[in-house]
Amino acid sequence: MSQELWERVDDFLSDLLAPQDPALQAALEESRKAGLPEIQVSSNQGKLLFLLAQLQQARSILELGTLGGYSTIWLARALPSGGRLISLEANAHHADTARRNIAAAGLAPLVEIRTGPALELLPILENEGLGPFDLIFIDADKANTPEYFSWAVRLSRSGGLIFVDNVVRNGHILNSSTDDPAVNGMRRFLTDLSTNTHVDATALQTVGSKGHDGFVLARVR
Ligand code: SAH
Ligand code: DHB
Ligand code: MG
Repeated sequence: MSQELWERVDDFLSDLLAPQDPALQAALEESRKAGLPEIQVSSNQGKLLFLLAQLQQARSILELGTLGGYSTIWLARALPSGGRLISLEANAHHADTARRNIAAAGLAPLVEIRTGPALELLPILENEGLGPFDLIFIDADKANTPEYFSWAVRLSRSGGLIFVDNVVRNGHILNSSTDDPAVNGMRRFLTDLSTNTHVDATALQTVGSKGHDGFVLARVR
């Protein structure tokens, strides 16, 4: 019952304030046709990422977990010309689909998708001297979120923003005796975060078309 209401309200708000344009619609449609899981951010969440990138006046963005490039398109649209977004994706089929979607959205010059497990690609980014980043969006495998966050702090500029998706997952986050690696990863991440002296952070719950979930927003001191 509540899920149905959340979805209707989400649709109402998204239709008004974060409507899908042809490029976003095409990205969703092509991702569906390619058999990708439909776990991208909602359009109003995408709009929030776009607004945060604008607030940051972001010129350099890092994303962990590309899927079909839906969130990538929202984020890259906030970049000025000459800006850059690097997105890391372990699944080559997801990465190929995303590259096509991003090119169709006219954003190819701004976006580089690297294929591989993020924990292998992050040290390479650092060695190449890429970054520091103005905004980092963590949305890959949940079990490794604590490690991704440490890397994100390391690769952020002072004042950099780090957004971590899916920290609540229908309240599973409360379960201290689960063997679900995704839940345990998020619990470990939030516990680490509580004593992290490098950032100011908060966490908010969300409801909507993606169910009951939430995100962490952190700013590097
Ligand atoms: N940010 C996307 C959704 C990402 S879904 C959006 O909102 O549009 C999570 C993605 O992380 C999936 O595509 C999955 O293949 C990828 N992934 C899983 N494990 C990974 C890893 N170890 N390194 C990089 N990406 C990974
Ligand atoms: C899943 C991953 C996500 O990034 C998300 O937003 C929702 C679900 C998943 O792996 O199930
Ligand atoms: Mg997510």
